[in-house]
Amino acid sequence: MTKSFYLTTPIYYVNDAPHIGHAYTTVAGDVLTRWHRQKGEEVWFLTGTDEHGQKIMRVAQENNVDPQAWVDRLVRDSWKPNWENLNIANDDFIRTTEKRHTERVQKFLQSLKDSGHIYAGKYEGPYCVGCEEFKLPAELIEINGEKCCPTHGKPVELVNENNWFFKLSAFTEKLLEHYRLNPDACQPESARNEVVSFLEGGVSDLSISRSTFDWGVQVPWDSDQVVYVWFDALLNYATAVGLTDSPDSEGGKKFARTWPADVHLVGKDILRFHAVIWPAMLMAAGLDVPRKVFAHGWLLVGGEKMSKSKLTGIAPKEITDHFGVDAFRYYFLRAIPFGSDGSFSWEDMSARYTSELANDFGNLASRSAAMIEKYCGGVLPALSHDSDLQTALHNAVSKADSAICALDFQGGIVAIMDFCKKVNGYVTEKEPWILAKEASNQRELEGVLYNTAESLRALAVLLHPVMPATCEILWQSLGAHEKLGELSAQKISDVATWGQLPEGAKISRTPVLFPRLETSA
Ligand code: MSP
Repeated sequence: MTKSFYLTTPIYYVNDAPHIGHAYTTVAGDVLTRWHRQKGEEVWFLTGTDEHGQKIMRVAQENNVDPQAWVDRLVRDSWKPNWENLNIANDDFIRTTEKRHTERVQKFLQSLKDSGHIYAGKYEGPYCVGCEEFKLPAELIEINGEKCCPTHGKPVELVNENNWFFKLSAFTEKLLEHYRLNPDACQPESARNEVVSFLEGGVSDLSISRSTFDWGVQVPWDSDQVVYVWFDALLNYATAVGLTDSPDSEGGKKFARTWPADVHLVGKDILRFHAVIWPAMLMAAGLDVPRKVFAHGWLLVGGEKMSKSKLTGIAPKEITDHFGVDAFRYYFLRAIPFGSDGSFSWEDMSARYTSELANDFGNLASRSAAMIEKYCGGVLPALSHDSDLQTALHNAVSKADSAICALDFQGGIVAIMDFCKKVNGYVTEKEPWILAKEASNQRELEGVLYNTAESLRALAVLLHPVMPATCEILWQSLGAHEKLGELSAQKISDVATWGQLPEGAKISRTPVLFPRLETSA
């Protein structure tokens, strides 16, 4: 049995519609999983929605609708269409209000209770509903004399309840040991350092239930309490693939094929939940911990985390309507080192769109097709070689592969786009339009045109995970389907093998891949 490469995004709160911060994480996950699929691996890509807790209950109440109706509407009308628009190829979509999730959460919780990891206690302390997090007094900031959450800038609330507690503190040493032995398990390094020093400072046990509202999964042995929303939400990664099902059932087999997760992609705001609480829950249940938690940075507006609650959220559609979906997918991963914060700027995106996508990539494709049409009747000439281009391609593939597999999307994309620049330089240097003036140059001219088209074949494969629709158009225009098959079936390991496009392939002009932008926006 082969283990799938299993990647998850956080499950998003459906208190509101998605903004580009949410899209940033999910696009990164989509690019990484498409890349792994093109490496020939079995892949499982999960995303979904986090639908319980006070934040969602309150927003539903403010809108005079029942919370279930609220989340159903947002998932149907906003979240799922948003992922479709962005061409996200997730294999599953989990909602925490689904029975497959709630039942497995209850079973998991009961087993932790039975094995002595849960006890009754009293919680008293500040809570931020925006983060759905119990806060330490020292973390809070003061705004207008009130104790506020540093992320949301809103007053915290005082919780004073009899709750059920998880013995989180019992796992401190084991977690530290885990990160010492497996430095890759929490990345980038700055994130791992943060987690290690947090653990070294000591952790308290965690209240894992609430009794003052009922929008959540009921604690199986106590009908007055619902499961704390984060405890419920973190379990999605495992419930979605069959946690707690018997090993010979469908769910159990799925679990064996997918668990542990290879990568949990998260924003840095939710790192501790994923790198402290979640692995401890798994350790308590005797399950494997995730292989890697990767915390990326924030998209900022005015120096602060973009968020709907601060009215700084930009809807992905505002950008895709102007630049197109593939430019959106490309831009954020290209412009911001994954792991660092970055500001979205309309000007920077326009500049990169024009220079990197329209000029370097789009023009190369259209020039190549136009010249093959003009000088070779639209038919690909005989195979040719250029050792410089071949070496550059080899290097680009190996750099891109190691960068992308290490979640350095920027490094991977730059390696590929550097190859694209190299091909442009080759065309400029060889001047096929001058060669075409002398009939005696026909062989050389055809060689240049073959090498250019063959380089575009490689670019279509390498950029496909990032810009699937555009690369599909290019693949069609190269007439590559017939001999090479589907673009998505092309393997990264074969991409640098020169000479795959067959002589005689019918090359057609592409529609403009990256049209000139309307200046009014
Ligand atoms: N529901 C929890 C996650 C539970 S996972 C078991 C949650 N949801 S969220 O909708 O508030 O945010 C989820 C994720 O969206 C963040 O961790 C991050 O990945 C992404 N982002 C939200 N705002 C963002 C930015 N401004 N910038 C980049 N990513 C952002 O937390």
